Amino acid sequence: MNFLEERILKDGIVKSGNVLKVDSFLNHQMDISLMEEIGREFKRRFQDKPITKVLTIEASGIGIAVFVAKEFGVPMVFAKKSKSINIDGDLFVAEVESFTHKNKNQVVVSKRFLNADDHVLIIDDFLANGCALQGLISIAEMAGATVEGLGIVIEKGFQIGGRVIRNLGYRLESLAIVDAMDGETGKITFREQ
Ligand code: G4P
Repeated sequence: MNFLEERILKDGIVKSGNVLKVDSFLNHQMDISLMEEIGREFKRRFQDKPITKVLTIEASGIGIAVFVAKEFGVPMVFAKKSKSINIDGDLFVAEVESFTHKNKNQVVVSKRFLNADDHVLIIDDFLANGCALQGLISIAEMAGATVEGLGIVIEKGFQIGGRVIRNLGYRLESLAIVDAMDGETGKITFREQ
């Protein structure tokens, strides 16, 4: 079991509706030592790639992506969620649906911060249905950038996102893959990796 799986078993809470609450260490209160370890682990896994930018989406991805970008010594860019329909021509725009909030957002990145010379590592906290990642991939591709890989902290292996992204041929590394969660007993089963 790796450091993250251990922490999920210690402090994660299984809620009804297949939701894993990790807000005491990952996406509300953040354990900075753990973030540093996550940053180092993604650096280790993608060290063979010529990463020039780390790309994520607000809000929860930002705190994690900062530590990954620091390890690579490159800028971090986060896609902003925008409700505005008046998107100007200086932006790359993708549509993303949120599982938790049951809504749709346009996510945008300024054309000034991604271009065809970029080699992008996409980072996010959760992978469930993969909508957020697909939005980020399409933004990177609109820029003509190379998507070198995707790094996820917690993948919900029983939802379709991981399979969809891997089937598209992208290198996807998840630090923990939850294959099953029991809302009654609190039991969490990880995929052996
Ligand atoms: P995706 O992230 O793979 O696209 O999946 P989906 O659209 O289904 O989920 C989107 C949102 O739901 C993301 O946050 C994601 O972090 C969150 N999420 C999915 N499953 C879980 C879970 O089991 N536990 C927790 N805590 N979050 C989960 P978001 O709403 O888009 O944004 P934000 O919270 O980062 O602002």
